[in-house]
Amino acid sequence: MSLTIRPETPSDYPVITEVNDLAFGQPAEGKLVEDLRKNPKFVTELSLVAEANGEIVGHILFFPIVIRSEEGKEKETISLAPLAVRPEFQKKGIGGKLIRGGLKVCRQLGYDSVIVFGHPEYYPKFGFKQAGTWGIKDTFGAPAEAFMALELKEGVLEGASGVVELPEEFKVPEEHNY
Ligand SMILES: CC(C)(COP(=O)(O)OP(=O)(O)OC[C@H]1O[C@@H](n2cnc3c(N)ncnc32)[C@H](O)[C@@H]1OP(=O)(O)O)[C@@H](O)C(=O)NCCC(=O)NCCS
Repeated sequence: MSLTIRPETPSDYPVITEVNDLAFGQPAEGKLVEDLRKNPKFVTELSLVAEANGEIVGHILFFPIVIRSEEGKEKETISLAPLAVRPEFQKKGIGGKLIRGGLKVCRQLGYDSVIVFGHPEYYPKFGFKQAGTWGIKDTFGAPAEAFMALELKEGVLEGASGVVELPEEFKVPEEHNY
């Protein structure tokens, strides 16, 4: 299977929603992508699709956010969410390729760290550690092991303790499973 990781284009929008809906088994994440696309901070180069033989089989989105310190200082970072692979294409390495490809673009665009709320057994494979390691907190009450961060440049999160601020589109549905 030849796989291409590339930025989304407008003609991909409906399929991206579909892939998210199918992967998560609910419409919340597809709607999240649609809502974030309307936010002025949305970065098209960081909404990536995985294409296999002309079919979109996966999607990943990174969205700029900040970590706010107690003193009110802002540290720019980026969130990874959502990540979705069509159910029948899972466990073939596509999720991993979307993450690695996405992290490469994040570096190219100058981001030096990434935040994720997600499966605690999955993201550590890509170097993510508990965000609490750096004193980074969330306001969603996510389990500590599901709230993770990655330094794209060594040491950039040292002294970055504070609270992650997500845009309001990210309101976590109560039934969300990390
Ligand atoms: C999570 C997801 C994106 C992974 O995509 P994928 O293409 O199947 O991932 P890869 O093939 O790169 O990696 C598969 C590995 O991830 C593991 N994995 C998949 N889902 C996992 C989960 N929920 N928790 C822990 N590990 C998981 C698999 O067991 C497999 O492990 P192995 O390599 O040791 O066999 C995909 O399963 C998916 O879309 N799931 C539904 C939506 C979702 O949960 N998204 C992530 C939100 S944090």
